[in-house]
Amino acid sequence: MNIICTHNLTKTYSHKDGTIDAIKDITLDVEKGCFVTITGPSGSGKTTLLLTLAGLIRPTSGSFSFLEQDLTKVHDSELAKFRRRNVGFIMQSFALIPYLTCIQNVMLPLALIKTSNQKQIEEAKSVLETVGLGKRLNHLPRELSAGQQQRVAIARAMVNSPSIIFADEPTGNLDPLLSVEILDFLKEINQKNNITVIMVTHSPVAADYGTVKIHLDNGEIKSIN
Ligand SMILES: Nc1ncnc2c1ncn2[C@@H]1O[C@H](COP(=O)(O)OP(=O)(O)OP(=O)(O)O)[C@@H](O)[C@H]1O
Ligand SMILES: [Mg+2]
Repeated sequence: MNIICTHNLTKTYSHKDGTIDAIKDITLDVEKGCFVTITGPSGSGKTTLLLTLAGLIRPTSGSFSFLEQDLTKVHDSELAKFRRRNVGFIMQSFALIPYLTCIQNVMLPLALIKTSNQKQIEEAKSVLETVGLGKRLNHLPRELSAGQQQRVAIARAMVNSPSIIFADEPTGNLDPLLSVEILDFLKEINQKNNITVIMVTHSPVAADYGTVKIHLDNGEIKSIN
């Protein structure tokens, strides 16, 4: 079963100095449960593709669907609902809220789907235990190492039980040892929880984790292996 299908997906940014075709005619089927890695030179459209598939930016033309629902034409509120219910997102810079503790950071996505406070605490605790941070619930992000902070970000991306996790260079700020730890962890949740993972990376080691490897160049798919 395909979780995501795109057809001629195109995003053109308008800028006062002209327009930029960030992604061009991307046609792609992603099977549920895959671990997809996306590589390509800087500026080749990787982040744009990821943000479009995650419903965070709108394509200029073409279409994409999630579990056979065409998300190109839905209203913003419907798109937001899709993100809250189905999507986890991990960024290179972790993007944790600095003045909230670990558990409060992880509770955020649940607050958005109006889960009761008690349930938010239980679920957040449980995923933080899964990522090995059960003893750090009340620590602030700055009181953790980089690898631990990225694990909090993963816990936050997992807490709404998403069917798909998008990660934009999740190991870009980590040393090689911590990178492998985070990548192994992503692979584990991909396999154990059957969460589809789509990960952008510059690192050949990280790209090798892909069961499907996409290479972008100049906004176009150059190869899929
Ligand atoms: N908001 C924007 N407005 C105008 N142009 C943009 C915008 N965002 C990205 N671009 C342009 O679109 C192209 C693709 O950018 P994108 O960020 O998707 O590349 P990338 O492959 O993720 O690069 P990197 O590896 O450096 O992160 C680039 O030429 C970039 O300058
Ligand atoms: Mg990028």
